[in-house]
Amino acid sequence: MKTHRIATIPGDGIGQEVVPAGRQVMEALMKSDSNLRFEFTDYDWGADYYRKHGVMMPAEGLDQLRDKDAILFGSAGDPGIPDHITLWGLRLKICQGFDQYANVRPTRILPGIDAPLKRCTPAQLDWVIVRENSEGEYSGAGGRVHQGHPLEAATDVTIMTRAGVERIIRYAFRLAQSRPRKQLTVVTKSNAQRHAMVMWDEIAATIAKEFPDVKWDKELVDAATARMVNRPASLDTLVATNLHADILSDLAAALAGSLGIAPTGNLDPERRYPSMFEPIHGSAFDIMGQGLANPIGTFWSVVMMLEHLGENAAAGRLMAAIEAVTANPALHTRDLGGSATTRQVTDAVCAAVSRA
Ligand code: IPM
Ligand code: MG
Repeated sequence: MKTHRIATIPGDGIGQEVVPAGRQVMEALMKSDSNLRFEFTDYDWGADYYRKHGVMMPAEGLDQLRDKDAILFGSAGDPGIPDHITLWGLRLKICQGFDQYANVRPTRILPGIDAPLKRCTPAQLDWVIVRENSEGEYSGAGGRVHQGHPLEAATDVTIMTRAGVERIIRYAFRLAQSRPRKQLTVVTKSNAQRHAMVMWDEIAATIAKEFPDVKWDKELVDAATARMVNRPASLDTLVATNLHADILSDLAAALAGSLGIAPTGNLDPERRYPSMFEPIHGSAFDIMGQGLANPIGTFWSVVMMLEHLGENAAAGRLMAAIEAVTANPALHTRDLGGSATTRQVTDAVCAAVSRA
């Protein structure tokens, strides 16, 4: 039996509530299955650490994480510190440092959730958005000159490399191939962005030849938003650039009922480094410390982590527990129109896991 070494990084805001909840659920899973073992190490990195030490995480922080099997992350963001500092100082540092180039974001309408999307049944909506997570619009390349002067100029340069595009498109085709519908939509904007996105399209067409059994199409990102609303069942797996997928995945989460539910995996598919799992909701300072945060996004992220670790039985058990809990409106948190607390939802999922 392998002991999975898990790093937990709650970070900021409601991350400090949902990550301990995620750990509690993993402990409940472990208690009810003698073949499952996790060893947790907790890291106090984030905005409070920044106020004490001037950095979001220590310089040798990545070395502390390197031997872990996976990372459970909460969120980074603080009203008192500029967002680009909290983001680049912690989450992106880990994503880029460990080359977690595939960001995977599944969307389904879970039982009991009132989703605004009326043009399909919950069962017809089963999307996975694959987000390029290492370059593109988030490359960090750019700068500002003549700051504060009328002639000030600023650039954020999108960088796409052939290697970077090939690996994410290939990952998406593989994922699509592993799913029942074997269908991939390549999201693009090559009508307006006439260099990098044209290369993106060319690479997609080339890689597609390696996957003759996958049905694929191309959709401009603006049209993709409309298609998600109007013809949701026509989509299955999608692949998009860093920024395009960032936007599409918020839309997907809202269409499935709440940002509080949506999970993410930041994956290094080659497994050279630990992958990192997190809810997509962010730090939500308006509700922090009140016990109102929806922990379901974290629990679903734990499901993705378990799948990544090869613990498929435990992943299935946890997903079933999550669905049993969302099916009960008395266990809905405020973002879902209910009044349940983080603790009540967590206890209910732990109880369902133990019964399974
Ligand atoms: C996400 C978030 C982040 C992103 C923010 C916090 C910068 O919105 O994970 O989607 O854009 O990557
Ligand atoms: Mg986002």
